[in-house]
Amino acid sequence: GLEQDLAGRHVVVSAGGTREPLDPVRFLGNRSSGKQGYALAATAVARGARVTLLSANVELPAPAGADVVRVSTALQLREAALKAAVDADVVVMAAAVADFRPAEYAGGKIKKVDGVDPAPVALVRNPDILAELSAQRQRGGQLVVGFAAETDDVLANGRAKLTRKGCDLLVVNEVGESRGFGLDTNAAVVLSADGTEVHIADGPKEDLADAVWDQVAARLP
Ligand code: PMT
Repeated sequence: GLEQDLAGRHVVVSAGGTREPLDPVRFLGNRSSGKQGYALAATAVARGARVTLLSANVELPAPAGADVVRVSTALQLREAALKAAVDADVVVMAAAVADFRPAEYAGGKIKKVDGVDPAPVALVRNPDILAELSAQRQRGGQLVVGFAAETDDVLANGRAKLTRKGCDLLVVNEVGESRGFGLDTNAAVVLSADGTEVHIADGPKEDLADAVWDQVAARLP
């Protein structure tokens, strides 16, 4: 929108996907390109916001006018998000965060030994950043927005996730081999804690971003 309806607001957006290292050359990761999060940052700048973009392993040009903070792991993203959220009006978690990380990090490259089966990789749970941000609002009236990537029972799973995470809005996108991740377009349903359900047709990720900001702007104190 041309309207400066986010002027004077500080918004924090996370983008991309975390990488959880196994050894110096290997990691557990996901298919997020960062396009949706970068589109949220660019459209928020256009609507007048001060934008902090927490960027996890994204290879896109930085959106003009946004402060970019680069992170890689879920633990680094958590630290950066809690710090940036202190004076934020809105926090949007569009990043795909690994739910688990390898329990141990091997300081040297893990070697294959002839005739020996590989040991299973033990995982430990990562903190849920969105749930933490929602539970401990860093500022009165702060809005917390999550994204959810679902492959089936999109609405039922989305509604349950909104309640579980405790956020104000949850943008549920259906993902799959040919949807969501990496593409330039996305479709979603924006669920709110106040019970509304807004369907956004498949289109450019910038259009979805603007539709999310419309929902946010309508709820800002
Ligand atoms: O980057 P693109 O290629 O453009 O793709 C965009 C996208 C599909 C990655 C994006 O639109 C999206 O859906 N992002 C959220 C993906 C995700 O991790 O969904 P989830 O259902 O696993 O997590 C739900 C929410 O909790 C998310 O807001 C996530 O940031 C947050 N979360 C999850 C786990 C965790 N440990 N901490 C979190 O904060």
